[in-house]
This record gives sequence, C-alpha cells and structure tokens, in this order.
Amino acid sequence: MFVFKAAVVGAGTMGGEIAQVVASAGIPVVLKDVKQEFVDTGLEKARQVTEAQLGSLVKKEKITQEDADAQREEILGRISGTTDYDGFGDVDFVIEAVPERMEIKQAVFSELDEVTPGHAILASNTSSLSISEMGEATSRPDKVVGFHYFYPASIMRLIEIVVGEETSSDTISAAQNFAQQIRKQPITCNEVPGFVVNRILNSAVSEIWRVQEEEGLDIKEVDKLVQESKAAPMGPFYLTDLLGLDTVLHVAEHLHDCYGDRFFVHKQMKELVEAGNLGQKTGKGFYEHG
Ligand SMILES: NC(=O)c1ccc[n+]([C@@H]2O[C@H](COP(=O)([O-])OP(=O)(O)OC[C@H]3O[C@@H](n4cnc5c(N)ncnc54)[C@H](O)[C@@H]3O)[C@@H](O)[C@H]2O)c1
Repeated sequence: MFVFKAAVVGAGTMGGEIAQVVASAGIPVVLKDVKQEFVDTGLEKARQVTEAQLGSLVKKEKITQEDADAQREEILGRISGTTDYDGFGDVDFVIEAVPERMEIKQAVFSELDEVTPGHAILASNTSSLSISEMGEATSRPDKVVGFHYFYPASIMRLIEIVVGEETSSDTISAAQNFAQQIRKQPITCNEVPGFVVNRILNSAVSEIWRVQEEEGLDIKEVDKLVQESKAAPMGPFYLTDLLGLDTVLHVAEHLHDCYGDRFFVHKQMKELVEAGNLGQKTGKGFYEHG
C-alpha cells in the first residue's frame, strides 16, 4: 500500500516533529490535538525543524537561500492543523502520539476507527503499551501496529515496528514500506516490554539512576561525566528532561513491573512527576528550562 496522505494525533514533544518528517518526504499530513494552542506548538516545532534543516543546507552551499525559502513553504504547506477530525476521511496511515496512558490511547483508536477509511492503518508511537489492547478498541485490529519513533523524530533514523497479536502481515509490510517512504530505517519486533531499544537503553540508564540515588551523587556532575566520557551526546538526566519525565517514568515502571529489579525506578523522578514537573515541556524537571 502506498501512503498518499497521513495524519498524526497529538502535537506534543513527538507529534509536531513526526508531522514534519512525513511532510518533508512529500506526503500531506493532518496534525490533530485537543486545543488550538497545542496544534500551534506542534506546527511551530515543525517550522523550526524545517528551518534548521534547510538552513544547514544553505550553510553548506548545497542549496541557495531562495531554494530554501521555497522548499520551507512547500513542506509546511503539506501540514494542516486541526482540533477535530477534519481531513481524516481520506488518510491512509495515522500515527497516534497522545500521552502514554491506555485509556486515552483506546479512546483515540476508537474515534479513529470511526473517522478514517476502512483501509487506513492505525499506528501508535507508544513506547511501551500493548498494541493488541489498542487494537481491541477498533473493528480492525489487523490494521493496528506500533510505529515507534525516537526523540528527536526529525533526526533519529530508526523506527520500531511493533507487531500486536492481531496485526496482519500486510499491515507489517505496509508499515515497513511507509517507514522507508519517509526515509527511516524500520526494525520489526513483537510487543515485548520495552521492545528493543528501550530495553537496551533502560538497562544501561538504570545503573546510572541507581548509583546516583543510592550514593546521593550530584545530578549535574553525573550528566557532565557521561557527556565528557563521550559515551552519549548528553547525560541521562538532561535527556530525561527533553523526553518528558512522565513518559520516561512510565517506561521505567513498566520495565520494572515486567522484568523486576534489574530495571530501576528513580524516586526523585517519580516525585517530580507527581509535582507536575515533567521537564522541558513544563519548564522544570531535573533542570530549570527558560
Ligand atoms: N517523548 C519522547 O521522547 C517519546 C519518544 C518516543 C515515543 N514517545 C511516545 O509518544 C507518545 C506521545 O509522547 P509525547 O512525549 O509526545 O507526549 P506529550 O505529552 O508531549 O504530548 C502529547 C500530546 O497529545 C495531546 N493529546 C492528549 N489527548 C489527545 C486526544 N484525545 N487527541 C489529540 N491529542 C491529544 C496532548 O494535548 C499533547 O499535546 C507517547 O505514547 C510516548 O510514549 C515519546
């Protein structure tokens, strides 16, 4: 199946950039959120990413500023924002990127089942939840699949395609093809806890969280050491602020529930989430954000 038009539901940390990735591959995309201000934030994110990408090509003298201006308008012109399901009637592929809570995901999947054409694939960007349970909220569980981008979606090339109990082989092939259509590298896995990447990432990060908390180490120092060691481009606490503490905590708790003590849940992260400090998106997490 070729995707002529796509949609993204949820214009938060991930949604705006996901829409930008789809639009820069030449595919029209509708971006939906519950309030206009959230849609606008997602559209603004798409604009910033597009300008940064094209600006870097101008700097390297690969394209002229005139070309960049024209391309920016073309890419952004392919993204339309909405607070209802306007424009979903002829989409081929939807990527859901709403908060990591099953009741919200299921409500969205049930609505998507109503408003999209029967052939459309309904994909979730979930980091840890069950694709099969989302499929149960629809009349087409065979067309429900995980399509897991990594932060930041405009840069990270990998997409995990997560296979639910009812996902059909046609849907898996279509998701793999769509990932390539938008210039990403798909890997396919079953819906095991943590899929592939978060299981590896969290097992490493768990040890840093554990030693920091057990020994009361300074968080900024830990981040600085990790960054200076060049083991990662940034330390795990700053990264958590960028990803969203609620999302990271949810994945950590899920992995701990499923695999036991080899995965660690950081107490201070939990306290920050309970206080509504979710990182960059709320202005405060482990760090203050301007
Ligand atoms: N943050 C990350 O680094 C990251 C990476 C990979 C995957 N994910 C996954 O992507 C999904 C979204 O994460 P996020 O970090 O972008 O969350 P977020 O909290 O930043 O954004 C979620 C957006 O969804 C909107 N929303 C809520 N209910 C909605 C509804 N019914 N219809 C439309 N929009 C609705 C919210 O208003 C918000 O703008 C989660 O499943 C998360 O696990 C996140």
